[in-house]
Amino acid sequence: MNTLHLTNTTEDINSAAAILRDGGLVAMPTETVYGLAADALNGEAVRRIFEAKGRPMDNPLIVHVADFSDIERLHLVAEIPDKAVKLAKAFWPGPLTVIMKKGGVIPDEVSAGLDTVAIRIPSHPTAQALIKTSALALAAPSANTSGKPSPTTAQHVIDDMDGRIEAVLDGGACSVGVESTVITLVADTPRILRPGIITREEIEAVIGAVEVDKAVLHQLESNEKASSPGMKYKHYAPRARVILLRGEDEKYIRFVNRKYARDKSVAAMCYDEDKPQINAPCITIGSADNEKAQAQALFDALRAVDEIGGVTTVYAHCPSVTGVGMALYNRLIRAAAFEVIDLPTKRIIGLTGQTGAGKSEVAKLLKDRGLPIVSADAAARQAVEDSEVKAMLCAAFGDVLKADGSLDRRRVAEIAFSAPGRTAVLNAITHPRIARIMFEEAERLDGDTVVFDASQLYESGEDAYCDRVIGVLADPGLRLARITERDGITREEAMRRMSAQFSEEFFIANCDDILYNNGSAEELQTSVKELYERLVRG
Ligand code: TXA
Ligand code: MG
Repeated sequence: MNTLHLTNTTEDINSAAAILRDGGLVAMPTETVYGLAADALNGEAVRRIFEAKGRPMDNPLIVHVADFSDIERLHLVAEIPDKAVKLAKAFWPGPLTVIMKKGGVIPDEVSAGLDTVAIRIPSHPTAQALIKTSALALAAPSANTSGKPSPTTAQHVIDDMDGRIEAVLDGGACSVGVESTVITLVADTPRILRPGIITREEIEAVIGAVEVDKAVLHQLESNEKASSPGMKYKHYAPRARVILLRGEDEKYIRFVNRKYARDKSVAAMCYDEDKPQINAPCITIGSADNEKAQAQALFDALRAVDEIGGVTTVYAHCPSVTGVGMALYNRLIRAAAFEVIDLPTKRIIGLTGQTGAGKSEVAKLLKDRGLPIVSADAAARQAVEDSEVKAMLCAAFGDVLKADGSLDRRRVAEIAFSAPGRTAVLNAITHPRIARIMFEEAERLDGDTVVFDASQLYESGEDAYCDRVIGVLADPGLRLARITERDGITREEAMRRMSAQFSEEFFIANCDDILYNNGSAEELQTSVKELYERLVRG
């Protein structure tokens, strides 16, 4: 099919209206996002919307009209509740969708078999003109391929829909940028099913108490029914994996920079103010204190992620969940398939280094000075008893449980260390869990500074949580002597362990502070004291 690219001249709007009257599909601008419109009362035409978008048939559509009187005139709903009248006076035309009991004329395709229908009166002049010229009620979901970010420009629509629909009407960039607030009045208490730029607080000022559906902010369990079918799908997602980071600006910036230092395929999605300090490729969504600007930019930013070459993971800075922030959070959390990483509220000092260099000595000395230590070894022992981790290990390495259900650690070690590929599998399974355990323990401990004692701080990605990292190094000859004696192993085994680690250059390049432990115990004590004073006392 050849998709017509139309503009918002009267002539083009007439052509678009004629297409709609013939049962065709037209993408139209609205103030929120572009919608993919068809005659709402023509079931056949509506079915084509689902095909063009690849949309699951159980996800109902919004019916758009130009004026409040159209709802009654076209018998779109069974009855108009008082609260709908109040909402209409306050917010229509505008980015609000109201769910009511449906009228008999609504085809099942529109309501996806539900006994309710979603109604909206858009304020965008082109949408208004198109509805009026066609003299139709228009069913219109967002004009993206199902699962992708909603389109906020005609180009986004063309990227997704060219060749699949009759026409795209270009009305410029959408001013709101996120889809309308959806509220149902078919409930004892009105309930927001999808947050938008019209906030809960604003609605409550008009109709009193309003609930927020659980699915707005939380992932539903597989057995829970979504009040709004659209809420259960992964949505708004670029090809790259999106992960939300929840925490202070400073922690966010540090996390992203540490990840990027080790992995050039990561990118950031953040506020304008963060950008100058971020080393990774960065997509900004507006100023931190302007949530409306962020909403306007959000979907374009999500689409832009895939235009940066080679990005496999994008770390987005998690918004607040109040006001317009709730709409941003609701979209981002779906783009992230609910993957959120909480960043520490404490100051974290990472302690790592070469085997045999004396990291444990340094940990002890820091502990003596009052700093709480979180040990990665202890966290690792705990991680492998986690039932999810055990299940993943069995899936990867066969049955590695003992008769009593605990992990056969010797067996796991045998398999995992028999080949580098297997070690990587072991690490991929355990490291994220270990990092979480360490994070949680750090949050529980007293004091505002905590030490992460981890020989594999960098391999595990725990370094990204750290504000500073101390690397403990020593001459190879000394280390060799220390570990053969300490662990009772041969020179060869000791050399093998040493060469399996990062090089001295690596630690020098990546750590913030280097402690050399080539001298006496007293000398180490002195350098730890100096470091402690510099780090903790400022
Ligand atoms: O801003 C918007 O609302 C845009 C523009 C084009 O108007 N439209 C839009 O439509 O975002 P769509 O289909 O992408 O999202 C509609 C949402 C879906 O989550 C759907 O499940 C929900 O509204 N919905 C529609 N009818 C419903 C109903 N009867 N009951 C519950 N949820 C409904
Ligand atoms: Mg949509």
